[in-house]
Amino acid sequence: MLRIVTYPHPALRYESRPLARIDGELRAKVRAMFELMYEARGIGLAANQVALPYRFFILNLTADPEQKDQERVFINPEIGKRYSSIEDEEGCLSLPGLYAKVRRARKIKVRAFDLEGNPVEVDAEDLLSRAIQHETDHLSGRLFIDYLGPPARNAVAAKLREFETKFREAQAAGEFPDDDEIKRQLDGL
Ligand code: NI
Repeated sequence: MLRIVTYPHPALRYESRPLARIDGELRAKVRAMFELMYEARGIGLAANQVALPYRFFILNLTADPEQKDQERVFINPEIGKRYSSIEDEEGCLSLPGLYAKVRRARKIKVRAFDLEGNPVEVDAEDLLSRAIQHETDHLSGRLFIDYLGPPARNAVAAKLREFETKFREAQAAGEFPDDDEIKRQLDGL
């Protein structure tokens, strides 16, 4: 059973591995991830966020489960060229309720594979570009809060401590194993 994990679950800091195979098992996981994402009213979800150590993420910028034609899956994504930059507000399903401005490239070129295993090359700008950069960061264990300068970092510090306390309590209650065990499990997947 997949579930969205929240900061500071160690999967969110895990350097994910490239996917070697696209099979029915992966397609089932992708479907489950879309359902979780819609439930949480998100527009993107990376595999790390459901504690899977693989390089792929899903997007539906409409966040609308009725608009299945807007669903996209990016497997083993590589961002190539980045053009100009722009600041805008971001949030993350693994940091619920936390928003901050992040500067990112406005336009990017990205190569990936789709769920049929076909290579795709996308020229993305604005929200699509931002979402792809945010999700690709996840696959390297990077979170949008890592980009915040001292004032913005201060503004979210209390909220981060709250997440931290909640997660440690969940671990103490046996809802999650300890960090080392989680990392061992991710290594073994
Ligand atoms: Ni995120």
